[in-house]
Amino acid sequence: MVQNTKSLPALKKTITDLKQQFDIEPKTDVENLQNKYLGKRGFINDLMKSLKDVPREMRPVAGQLLNELKENLDHQIKLLGKGLSEKTPNKIDLTLPGLKPNAGHTHPVSQAIEEITHIFEKIGFTRVRYPEVDWDYYVFESLNMPLDHPARDEWETFFIEVPEAEKMGKMVLTTHTSNGQVREMERLNSKPPIRMINIARCYRRQQDATHTQMFHQFEGLVVDKGINIQHLKGTLDHFAQQFYGPGTKSRIRPFHFQFTEPSFEVDFSCHICHGTGKKGRSKCKFCKSGWHEVGGAGMVHPNVLKAGGIDPDEYTGFAFGWGVERTYTLKEGLNIDDIRLIYSGDLKFLEQF
Ligand code: DAH
Repeated sequence: MVQNTKSLPALKKTITDLKQQFDIEPKTDVENLQNKYLGKRGFINDLMKSLKDVPREMRPVAGQLLNELKENLDHQIKLLGKGLSEKTPNKIDLTLPGLKPNAGHTHPVSQAIEEITHIFEKIGFTRVRYPEVDWDYYVFESLNMPLDHPARDEWETFFIEVPEAEKMGKMVLTTHTSNGQVREMERLNSKPPIRMINIARCYRRQQDATHTQMFHQFEGLVVDKGINIQHLKGTLDHFAQQFYGPGTKSRIRPFHFQFTEPSFEVDFSCHICHGTGKKGRSKCKFCKSGWHEVGGAGMVHPNVLKAGGIDPDEYTGFAFGWGVERTYTLKEGLNIDDIRLIYSGDLKFLEQF
């Protein structure tokens, strides 16, 4: 007989009794076993309820023991259901279908990268990749941020200890995917049209509940004759609708970046409350305002085009860029308390996606 328990030793004894009882149980009716041990009114659930009687400091240990027992019984009952038993390995029926191993899946960030790539490739962008350890020149200088320019402070940069190169300067871990802009102009021998989507790892000296030192960004760059803000806005709207669903809108607000003029911050309407900012009579908890800020954009600064060997009197372009992790968690309607969870390798978290 299994009894409820008031202390950890008593619980351990009960668990041992339960295991023994299970071992001598006639194993014919698997469904019955399932109900008796794992069902709503089964032994395990009864014991779970009695956890509240165990002294508070012992509860985590007791809970873990119970969970182990539950998993163990569940495993054995499943084996029985398939005509197998851990104790009778030589009676395995080889004609039975095998046990399906747990199949993994790609990491949520990789899923997002695939989806983003696909959306842009369908409208004529080419996915490119550039070094994630790059010269100061591509990360800052060619983007209209000369040495000692205060705008550089915005990017908490990791510097690599290697000798500086003439013209290229120091070597850094890329703080943003904008390093791909002038590299792409050079790759195409300064000959537009350019339609690139650069998705890569970025690094910043910042780590807390909302920042990881390594993260991902995606960067769009379009350069051609007659490109204007409407092309940028249309592209942002297209992405919003494809990624977050029909009806999602983009909004651009004036801002400042050294490498674009004019520059904007980009918001997307909240796809949970459909941009209303409301849930019934209260505020939408996810966005609070109807909009989510996602990143930056603008018309490519003439100095950046010049750095890439393109004549700004002949060509214009737009660019945008922001984080993959945030873009993805927004889509899932996730309010992750600590963004570092994404890279913790914790299966309980990752299996949800
Ligand atoms: N590189 C910027 C950042 O990391 C984001 C950004 C802003 C990219 C404006 C752009 C742009 O291409 O035009 O914060």
